[in-house]
Amino acid sequence: MSSHQELRALTPGDIRARKGGDPLVCLTAYTTPVAQLADAECDLVLVGDSVGMVLHGLPTTLGVTMEMMILHGQAVARGVKRALMVVDMPFASYEEGPAQAYRNAARLMAETGCGAVKLEGGQHMAETIHFLTQRGIPVMGHVGLTPQSVNTLGGYRVQGKGADATRVMHDAQAVAQAGAFSVVLEKVPARLADEITATIDVPTVGIGASAGCDGQILVIDDMLGLFDAFKPKFVKRYAALADDARAAIAAYAGEVRARRFPAAEHIFEDPSK
Ligand code: KIV
Repeated sequence: MSSHQELRALTPGDIRARKGGDPLVCLTAYTTPVAQLADAECDLVLVGDSVGMVLHGLPTTLGVTMEMMILHGQAVARGVKRALMVVDMPFASYEEGPAQAYRNAARLMAETGCGAVKLEGGQHMAETIHFLTQRGIPVMGHVGLTPQSVNTLGGYRVQGKGADATRVMHDAQAVAQAGAFSVVLEKVPARLADEITATIDVPTVGIGASAGCDGQILVIDDMLGLFDAFKPKFVKRYAALADDARAAIAAYAGEVRARRFPAAEHIFEDPSK
C-alpha cells in the first residue's frame, strides 16, 4: 500500500463498514494541536458541542452557536488527516425541520470541510436525518442522553431504564433506518446498549453505555484530566493534565517571584544573543 493510500481520510462509509468489526476509536477535539494528537489513534474525531462547556465555560451546550462550531471545526480540520471529522450541529440549528437542518448542515460541511455532521434525537429526528442523507450530508445520530435536551429531560440522568428501554431502542432503530451511518449511545444501561448494538445494522458508539458497543467516544479533556470541574462517573482518566498544569504554573510562578527564572537569565546574560 502506498503512503498516499495509507493517509486517505476515513469516510462515513468506512465507519459504517466497521459494524461488528474492530472497535471504533473516537474522541472529541476542538483545536489543531489536540486534533493532531487524536488523529494518530482515532478513526473518528468529533468537534463536539461539548466545546461550549469544556473550552468556553458555558453551563450547558445550549449556548453553543454555528459560528463557534465553524471556528473550532476549521481548527480541527487543520490537524486531522486520517480520521473522519464529524461536527456537531448546535442547539436550535436543526430542530425546526429538514430545510433548516439542511441549510445549517451544508454550511458546516462547506465551511469546515468535515465529512459528516452529528445531531441529537431519535424518532422525531428521523425525517430530518432522511432528508439530509438523501441530499449528500452524512449524519451520525445520538440517542439516549441528549445533552441539548437537558431542560426537558430534567438533568443528565441515565436514559432507557426499565420500561423506558423501548423508547431508546425505537430511537436508535429510527435513526439507523433513516440513514445515519453510526449512532452515539450516551448514558444508557449496558444491557440495552448491547441489545441495540445487536439490533441495528450501523455501528453504535458508546459513551457511558457498554464495552460491547461497536466503538467508544470520550470528551478528550475529560479523559486527559484537563477538564476537572466535574467528572461524569463513566469517565476514566488516563492522565491528570490539570494537576500537571497547576504544578507547572506554580513552579514557574515560584521561579519568577524568586528572580530565579533560568530562561531569562540565559537571555539577559549576553544581550547579543
Ligand atoms: O459534544 C460531545 O462531545 C458529544 C459526545 C458524544 C462526546 O456529543
